[in-house]
Amino acid sequence: MADYKMEIKNICCIGAGYVGGPTMAVIAHQCPHIKVTIVDMNVARINAWNDENLDNLPVYEPGLSEIVAGSRGKNLFFSTDVDKGIREAEMIFISVNTPTKTYGKGKGMAADLKFIELCARKIAEVANSDKIIVEKSTLPVRTAEALKSILENSGNNVRYHILSNPEFLAEGTAIEDLLNPDRVLIGGEDKDAVDSLVEIYSNWVSSEKILTTNLWSSELSKLTANAFLAQRVSSINAISELCEKTEADVNEVSKAIGMDSRIGPKFLKASVGFGGSCFQKDILNLVYIARSYGLQEVAAYWEQVIIMNDHQKRRFAERIVQTLFNTVSGKKIAFLGWAFKKDTNDTRESAAIYVADYLLNEEAELVVYDPKVTAEQVYADLDYLNTRDASLNRKLVRIVNDPYEACNQAHGIAILTEWDEFNAYDWEKINKNMKRPAFIFDGRSALNKEELRQTGFEVYSIGSSNVGI
Ligand code: NAD
Ligand code: UGA
Repeated sequence: MADYKMEIKNICCIGAGYVGGPTMAVIAHQCPHIKVTIVDMNVARINAWNDENLDNLPVYEPGLSEIVAGSRGKNLFFSTDVDKGIREAEMIFISVNTPTKTYGKGKGMAADLKFIELCARKIAEVANSDKIIVEKSTLPVRTAEALKSILENSGNNVRYHILSNPEFLAEGTAIEDLLNPDRVLIGGEDKDAVDSLVEIYSNWVSSEKILTTNLWSSELSKLTANAFLAQRVSSINAISELCEKTEADVNEVSKAIGMDSRIGPKFLKASVGFGGSCFQKDILNLVYIARSYGLQEVAAYWEQVIIMNDHQKRRFAERIVQTLFNTVSGKKIAFLGWAFKKDTNDTRESAAIYVADYLLNEEAELVVYDPKVTAEQVYADLDYLNTRDASLNRKLVRIVNDPYEACNQAHGIAILTEWDEFNAYDWEKINKNMKRPAFIFDGRSALNKEELRQTGFEVYSIGSSNVGI
């Protein structure tokens, strides 16, 4: 590549998912002088991004549709023409999925890098001018080495610089996180290439928040950040079980420890277990990497975060069965919430899926209400587990658009996502239409348990002493 800083006029992002879409929409919004094209091989997804009706965008995020509306067709484009996108751009972000491997060596642990490799091979095949390649996907440490090797052996005289620029946005707050990031991390070897990317973020992020490191620190920092965040959730969830035995209240414990400035208040909310596409996948990947370097203690340490999370999901489901007099067979359980957290339509690895699966194995009948998740998605999530016949999932699980209908004649209600609207429901009305005793299992301690008890509910709230239930 030339020894001068490249002027970036065209960006291409491969992968129009939860990261590629919002991230590039914000870059386009903040950098009107740069043309941003997001390409994806998934035609339906690209069509949805181009849909005139902004309610049909494939990703739901507060504030996203306004940002897309402001830039789409001006300097923000969504396309299935991957080759053209690559050729036109000076800088290419790779933002494709890196799921846990489901086959071969590292099955169930390692990150599957086949989509990343396909991108590298595609770039090597079609590029006809020098490029800066930016790893936006979360990748195992030292992936840039493999990318470099594929690109540099293409034999077409194109020169490449590889940067690592992991994304730290959380779903539900993606736009806010992108507009006001705690930090932007850029790892790279070539100063000019790094500066090109620094310049882009400098359009809206102050320089003290743009951190530059070597490639490997940047790659590993992303896995480490997710591992630390998930570890805090597993830590407080471990304490939540102890609270239930000792009449301590986990919300009070969280508050008490969170006021210690060395600990801080965030990520201390006990729950039915963390979900989302990344925490589990990234920790499994970290565990796999540690093992591959022979670091057994390091691997075992981080693996425990996942073991605790699985335990938390299972014990919540077990608690429902046990409380409903040790059988849920033929009983109706209302699920309020299916998404892995509020303010997103994403259900990947949502605790709700595993709790539902457990209860279905016990022959419960489920009625699911989530303000943003479609019926097709709920069935797809259950079918993917392959625990029972798809037709049985459709027989035992009903998805409704009205929470009151979901709870009508239910033996119990399970709160799986902390949607704000749940607090505004007429709980007295819901209570009247339920079987007796009317049970609520609050997996998010999202509701006011005292008020519910006064309304006549028997309430189990995660991490509370739950006297009487
Ligand atoms: P996603 O599944 O929503 O989107 C990935 C997209 O890439 C899909 O639309 C897929 O069709 C497309 N794709 C895959 N291979 C392709 C190819 N060869 N050519 C063209 N398109 C291709 O995934 P995501 O949630 O956006 O995550 C992407 C990466 O970002 C992952 O590595 C993830 O760990 C990381 N990440 C995700 C989040 C998050 O909140 N979801 C946050 C930070 C980082
Ligand atoms: C997480 C990280 O927060 C992001 O920084 C990161 O970029 C992203 O993963 C990623 O790499 O994909 P996300 O999964 O979107 O973001 O959402 P979080 O807010 O982190 O929540 C993850 C899960 O933990 C959710 O199920 C949430 O309900 C649960 N959680 C979170 C708790 O149970 N308690 C808490 O206190 C916080």
